[in-house]
Amino acid sequence: MKLLITGGAGFIGSNFIRHMIHKYPDYPITNLDKLTYAGNLDNLKDIEGHSNYRFLRGDICDVKAVSDAAEGVDAIINFAAETHVDRSILEPGSFIQTDIYGTYVLLEAVKAQGIKRYLQISTDEVYGSIEGGSFTEESPLTPSSPYSASKAGADMLVHSYWKTFHLPVIITRSSNNFGPYQYPEKLIPLFITNALEDKPLPLYGDGLNVRDWIYVSDNCAAIDLVLHQGRDGEVYNIGGGTERTNIEITEIILRELGKPGDLIRYIKDRPGHDRRYSIDSSKLKSLGFKHQYGFEDAIRNTVRWYSANEWWWKKVKSEDFKRFYKKAYGEIEW
Ligand code: NAD
Ligand code: TYD
Repeated sequence: MKLLITGGAGFIGSNFIRHMIHKYPDYPITNLDKLTYAGNLDNLKDIEGHSNYRFLRGDICDVKAVSDAAEGVDAIINFAAETHVDRSILEPGSFIQTDIYGTYVLLEAVKAQGIKRYLQISTDEVYGSIEGGSFTEESPLTPSSPYSASKAGADMLVHSYWKTFHLPVIITRSSNNFGPYQYPEKLIPLFITNALEDKPLPLYGDGLNVRDWIYVSDNCAAIDLVLHQGRDGEVYNIGGGTERTNIEITEIILRELGKPGDLIRYIKDRPGHDRRYSIDSSKLKSLGFKHQYGFEDAIRNTVRWYSANEWWWKKVKSEDFKRFYKKAYGEIEW
């Protein structure tokens, strides 16, 4: 298979490219990425010289860049997106542009070039919050933030291209990922790196919001399975099966690093903060999927990875990052 991967310089995309290059060394892979603040070629340093890998800097909203990159490919897998809820609350415009309009440009390229498979990487956040039970692929979409609304908009557009044009599209909706190379704005890498620097860990609200955590390698294996065995027009939930409150996650991180509980700062809640995410992954399991990583080992590996790779995250926690955090968490002295 010749693949076009968009957003491959980000967290999940780079882990996915590494997974695919090692498992299918004969698959030619093009990585089209705009290199926003979240895109980082350091994430792929170990494979940049691989003969079947090429990187193109470009925007998925740019029709020509997309159509050139897509020439002759068998499948497009779209990871490119603006992804951080807090940024979407402060500055939603780029979310609408990349997540919705960018998806439209990709779908048009699939239509024009007769590409045989299009995988849209989406999120469980499109379903919104659920007090009890779990969402299935049939559940209605009730997104809460500009981020999740832009992802839901993209999902609907993808679905419309299936209904109207019979394009060979599939959507995956995974739960919260964690692991190496995650930009330290998201809960787990932010708290690990802050704790390593003895800086405060800003917990929203009462710290009891629940997320279903999946190790990024398990998500990559599931996407690989859906790419090869999923059915056109279908949606597949990819859950971790590990629901934890934010305070439980925080306590694990502090314990693993031997840092004190007084680093925790309870701060004013995130507006529109979803209480609990939970998805049912039976449909994925019916394709034969099994998790390879237990949560406890995976989070320990992740803490160890950030401890051993300061070179990676110290560079990423740049001046721009600090400016954003002053704006987002005004009440904390960094
Ligand atoms: P990320 O923010 O780490 O990376 C996003 C990548 O997309 C970056 O490399 C960035 O440069 C690139 N990008 C942004 N705008 C672009 C544009 N206009 N054109 C080309 N490239 C562009 O994101 P991530 O956490 O790796 O998430 C990848 C995908 O998975 C997203 O679609 C996200 O919605 C979805 N997802 C993420 C999670 C999670 O927990 N991280 C969970 C479920 C779904
Ligand atoms: P996040 O990693 O931003 O993912 P998402 O909101 O997309 O699920 O946040 C995960 C949870 O952690 C969410 O309930 C918000 C909470 N959180 C904090 O309490 N403090 C923080 O600084 C961040 C980034 C998140």
